[in-house]
Amino acid sequence: KKRYNIALLPGDGIGPEVISVAKIVLQKAGSLEGLEFDFQEMPVGGAALDLVGVPMPEQTFTAAKQSDAILLGAIGGYKWDKNEKHLRPEMALFYLRRDLKVFANLRPATVLPQLVDASTLKKEVAEGVDMMIVRELTGGIYFGEPRGIKINENGEEVGISTEIYAAHEVLNLDRIARVAFETARKRRGKLCSVDKANVLDASILWRKRVTALASEYPDVELSHMYVDNAAMQLIRDPKQFDTIVTNNIFGDILSDEASMITGSIGMLPSASLGESGPGLFEPIHGSAPDIAGQDKANPLATILSAAMLLKYGLGEEKAAKRIEDAVVDALNKGFRTGDIYSPGNKLVGCKEMGDEVLKSVESKVPAT
Ligand code: NAD
Ligand code: IPM
Ligand code: MN
Repeated sequence: KKRYNIALLPGDGIGPEVISVAKIVLQKAGSLEGLEFDFQEMPVGGAALDLVGVPMPEQTFTAAKQSDAILLGAIGGYKWDKNEKHLRPEMALFYLRRDLKVFANLRPATVLPQLVDASTLKKEVAEGVDMMIVRELTGGIYFGEPRGIKINENGEEVGISTEIYAAHEVLNLDRIARVAFETARKRRGKLCSVDKANVLDASILWRKRVTALASEYPDVELSHMYVDNAAMQLIRDPKQFDTIVTNNIFGDILSDEASMITGSIGMLPSASLGESGPGLFEPIHGSAPDIAGQDKANPLATILSAAMLLKYGLGEEKAAKRIEDAVVDALNKGFRTGDIYSPGNKLVGCKEMGDEVLKSVESKVPAT
């Protein structure tokens, strides 16, 4: 039997609710493929602040770093919103992403046929959408220096954030471009690089490096688009996109937008990968404090993140497929959480949705 160490970081709000069901589904799908998991559950974000006073305790980071893969719920909440910046729960995400060097964040947005009705776009616009957003995750305006709130020469406060990317060195543009080209190559061979090269210098260099690498990937059709147009095109005709590559902040915003095409932000998983070391897997949504503790959260984004963990983190594609199939099966049977509900279906809570996916995983005979 193969054994893996999985660090579970439930976090805040709906995080613990979605992680507890995703864990059980992951365990079952793995066991049907002869995999065993040792789960180590650790506090992160607001939960860690309350326990030990910091958002990213040393022990949590060590457990994450030494694991084979990390499954994270969500971080943040009203309770800590007025904390000083370094004591905000969200800082834990930055430390994790930066210190694990997981620069490539894959965010797939797929409209499942069962959920076409849940999309806020017209059926003919939404149906068949299948794109992958490759978001740069450890650079850009999230990390650039200088940064912070400083006092200027007039004694006034100024807030400073810096969008910065480098051709090589640490904030390497080529490596994210390569991940994007490789991703597009394995999909439909179309890559759209989204930037703001008409205004931002960091984007001018971004476009230059992506363009320079294109000759190494003659099988990939490369295009460029400004981010404002991309935001519009995603709603006008999302099927034009196959693979999108973009910087940290544009990727954050465009992936939330893309999630609504698929029906709900509660559907989108993600994988954050580096050159070595464990990958970080988490839904793209936040801690949803407005519905936390009410068993209303859609756990499918986290369950599908567990599938990405198996596929991209451990190379266990068969077990991943079991989870993906089980999600489709539960949707085929009509189970829906509130965010993807449409009349004629069965409205269920987070736990029951998890139970139904689990039943579907169990009902399949092990593949030979
Ligand atoms: P959010 O994604 O938490 O919620 C936005 C809206 O989507 C809310 O109405 C929420 O109820 C709904 N929603 C989100 N996930 C859902 C799910 N699985 N099922 C059903 N509905 C769902 O974004 P927000 O409200 O802007 O942020 C709340 C907190 O989460 C903030 O503290 C923010 O910083 C944090 N946040 C964390 C992450 C993360 O941990 N990766 C991501 C985004 C936001
Ligand atoms: C995400 C979140 C985070 C981000 C926040 C909570 C720091 O929105 O994972 O998409 O902006 O990266
Ligand atoms: Mn986000």
